[in-house]
This record gives sequence, structure tokens and C-alpha cells, in this order.
Amino acid sequence: MTRRMSRRGRDVAVLLDDFGHRLPTVPTAPAATRERAPFTSGVPRRGPRGRGRGRAATPAPLSVWRMTSEQTPVAWPLIPTPGLPPTGAQMGIDLLSGGTFYCDPVGWVTDDDVPVTNPNVVVFGKPGRGKSATVKAFALRMLGYGYRTLVLGDTKDEYEPLCRELGVEPFAIGHGLPARINPLAFGPLGHGWDRLDAAEARRREAIIFARWLVLLRGLVGSQSVPFGPVEENAVGEALRLLTGYRSGATRLSEPTLPQLWRALDEPPDELVAGCRYADLRHFLDATRVLRDALGALVKGSLAGLFDDHTSIDVDWRAPIQSLSLSRLEPLGDQAVGIALTCLNSWGQAMREIADPGDLRIVVRDETWRQMRLGVEAMKSLDANLRLSRRDADVQILLAHKPSDMLTAGDATSQAVAIARDLLHLCDTRVLHGQDQAVGDELGSMLGLSPVAQRVVTGWAVAGKGRALWLVGDRAFKVQTVLTEPELRLTYTNEALTAGGAA
Ligand SMILES: Nc1ncnc2c1ncn2[C@@H]1O[C@H](COP(=O)(O)OP(=O)(O)OP(=O)(O)O)[C@@H](O)[C@H]1O
Ligand SMILES: [Mg+2]
Repeated sequence: MTRRMSRRGRDVAVLLDDFGHRLPTVPTAPAATRERAPFTSGVPRRGPRGRGRGRAATPAPLSVWRMTSEQTPVAWPLIPTPGLPPTGAQMGIDLLSGGTFYCDPVGWVTDDDVPVTNPNVVVFGKPGRGKSATVKAFALRMLGYGYRTLVLGDTKDEYEPLCRELGVEPFAIGHGLPARINPLAFGPLGHGWDRLDAAEARRREAIIFARWLVLLRGLVGSQSVPFGPVEENAVGEALRLLTGYRSGATRLSEPTLPQLWRALDEPPDELVAGCRYADLRHFLDATRVLRDALGALVKGSLAGLFDDHTSIDVDWRAPIQSLSLSRLEPLGDQAVGIALTCLNSWGQAMREIADPGDLRIVVRDETWRQMRLGVEAMKSLDANLRLSRRDADVQILLAHKPSDMLTAGDATSQAVAIARDLLHLCDTRVLHGQDQAVGDELGSMLGLSPVAQRVVTGWAVAGKGRALWLVGDRAFKVQTVLTEPELRLTYTNEALTAGGAA
């Protein structure tokens, strides 16, 4: 029916014309002239004919080598290892594969294909090579994955711009400032003590006291004073008395270092008896060196900083928290090292219990200052990592070189063994540029091959942010790429450029 109507009826153009409209007409394209093919004649398979011309299929001379797969890496070193999964922070370019390098320490632990068993990272490199910048970029880029950052001791206040950018005011610690940190704080383990059953209270007590002993061993050891069973017994007993644990109190009172020193210096009778000394004189004689070392610390390096109950209220839900220590710089490496030892212990306490999903990056920058305090301080750092109950925390240590602690005047085999132990606790090692002399040291302490050593002492020295990343036993040659805002936030050369401008 419609077809018939349309056949007989007027078409749209005529209809519109009646109302004064014109349908546009399709312009007719001019006929295209055919282009000539660029190649008029084909070339024969064996090339153009003629004298001295043409092609012959002659294979290139090959040299044949036979070797075992163990020897292959010598001839073809640093052949890209199997890549890492593209999860976590995008750090920069993996120059061996040409792809993007991603860093995801916790993800690596849970992935059976990646040979790491802990999420801890140690970063080595000579000054100014971009260690801190790499860590700051990592912290920033992991924010999107729910990670928060805790900087345990910012000795140069260089994390402050990053904190402020994220809307957080860092805490400044120094003489004359109000902030106090109590390294003997209970942390979340002390909460609700009166409601704990006996077994749980004993479990928590063991954890808290173990941490305190590690701290005191490090502090007393930094004064070159031995901390043996006698000292350990006296300190342990004094702490149990001070907290009220010995008397079975339902609410424990938090001790401070000056209180501990006073308890040892003017011991109550229970302490003397609890340590099984015949009389007061016997106790005082046996603990003289310990009391003097603690007294020197309480009146010296710890005074006004770590000698009272914690006075700062840390917001653990903020994206970053940092404790600035630059005001201690004029007091020397030892004072800074002692402050770092206290902060490490406090930080560990704060992380003892955390909600599920509370992922954190704990940064310990300038760790070498603590390492230099001696073997005991080194052991305390090692124990802090070992005792850390929270496997989901990414602990990052930054130091110049592995042998830093050996310069404490105690290059004993024990010190070397501890350094090795500490390295074993960090399955991911980031090696920024180093001088030639340190290359050999890396070889012996990290088992780095000569080729990998050359990457660290050659290629990595030639640019900031260049580093050999060892993820388990896999090596990656990575250039960290910083964006413009990150470059601004990580800039640490103010002093140099200000000097140049003057
Ligand atoms: N990947 C990078 N690209 C460009 N610039 C970088 C890169 N990494 C670091 N820098 C710049 O190099 C300077 C020094 O970096 P950084 O402070 O991180 O060094 P460092 O190794 O931590 O030194 P130190 O041992 O003295 O603490 C900074 O100004 C930083 O912005
Ligand atoms: Mg730095």
C-alpha cells in the first residue's frame, strides 16, 4: 500500500519545493586522475643483473661457543631477569627490559613467583644520589594503594615539604621544644590491661619487656658499656617494679628513663632483694657502670627529648607522620644516633597492634648514624626489625654503605655478622651510586657479581635516581623518574644553590 502511494505520489524534493525549500544537491566529484605506480619494473630475487651486481645468499660467519648455563652469565651478564608483576608504585624505567619498573614489597611477598620473603627494603648510596628522593616518591605513589608513611627520625627536616603538601604538620623534636617522646611507652599493647586474662597479659608483658631491653642495650652500649646478664637482670627487675607488674597491678604505670635510672641509683629494698643481692652496697657495686652510663644519658643526650611521658598526639590516620630531628644536628652524630635508637623503639611500640588493612611504610632515614653507635645499637636496630610483628609494614632503611657500622671502631667478626643479618632481614636492596672502594665491599657483603658492582660504581654514579635494585636474587637496573612536583618536594640542595647564588 505505502509502496504504491510513494510510486504514484510526489517525492520529498517536490513536496519541500512547494513550501519554498530546496534540498541540497550532492556535488559531483571530478573524476580522479590515476597516479602512476612508483616502481615501474620489479627487481629480480637475486638482485639487479650485471657485472659486480646482484645478491648471493651467503650466511654471516658465526663463532660457536660451548658453555654451561652457569658460565653463560659471564659472557652475557645482567640478562633481564623475569619481570615483576605490574603492581604497586610505578618507580621509573627498568633499563634492562625497557619496561616500567614497579615496586610493591608486600605484593612481592605474597607472590610465589617473586623470590622475596619479607617486605623490608634497604637503600644504600653515597650522599646526594637520590636515596631519600626515591623513598619519598615511593611513599607518595603508594598513597593511592592505602599505604600511610611514618618517618622515624628526619634528621635533616627534608620530609617536611612532603608532609605539608599532604596537609600534615610534622613534629619537631629538639632542646627547648615542648614535644617529648617516651621510648618506654607501652603503645597499644598496654591498652585495657585490667581486662586481659593472665595468659594474654604474660604474652604482652614478654613483648614489651623484650623491646625495652633491646632499647636499653642499645642506649647503654652506645656509651661503650657492656650490657650483660647482671645489667639485664637489674634493669628488668627495676622495670617490673616501676610498672607495678611485679605487684600484680591491674593498671600498669608507664615508666620513663629518668625514673628507671633513679630506681637503680637509689634502689628500694624490694629491688635489691628481687635481684638477689645480699645488701644495698652489693647491688650498687655490681651496677655502678650501668648506673653511670644511664645517668650520663639521662642528663645528656636524652635530656629534654626522651626523658618524660609522650606529649604529642599522633594522628595515625593522617597520610604521613614525621618526626623532625634537625635541631639535634649540632650535637653530633652520637646524639642523633641515640635519638634514632629511641624513636625506633617508640615507633615499634606504636605499630605493635594495628587494624587489619592499616598498611604502613616505616622510613628510617640516615640509619647509618645509629649503626655507628656500635654493635649494641646495631643489634637494637636488627631486633626492631625482627621483633616487628606487623609483616604488612614496609620497613625502609637508608644508609650510605653496609660497612657503616664497622667504622664504630669495632670491626669484629660479630659486627660483620650482625650487618649480614640485618641485610638478610631486607630482601629488597636498592643500590645507588657508590665509589670504587665501596664496590668491593658490596661484593663481599651482598655477594654482588663484578658486573653488578660496575653498574653500581659506574652507571649509577653518573645520574641521580639511578640504582641497581636487587629483588631477592633478581637484579634490575632502574632509573627513578620524578615528576615536576616531586622534584620540587624532594629538592635537598637548597644550601648548595643558596651558596652559589650568594
Ligand atoms: N630521579 C631523580 N631525578 C632527578 N633528580 C633527582 C632524582 N633523585 C634525586 N634527585 C635530586 O637529587 C638531590 C639529592 O637527592 P637526595 O636528597 O634524595 O639524595 P640522598 O641520596 O638522600 O642524599 P643524602 O645521603 O645526603 O641524604 C635532590 O635535590 C633531588 O631532588
Ligand atoms: Mg637523604
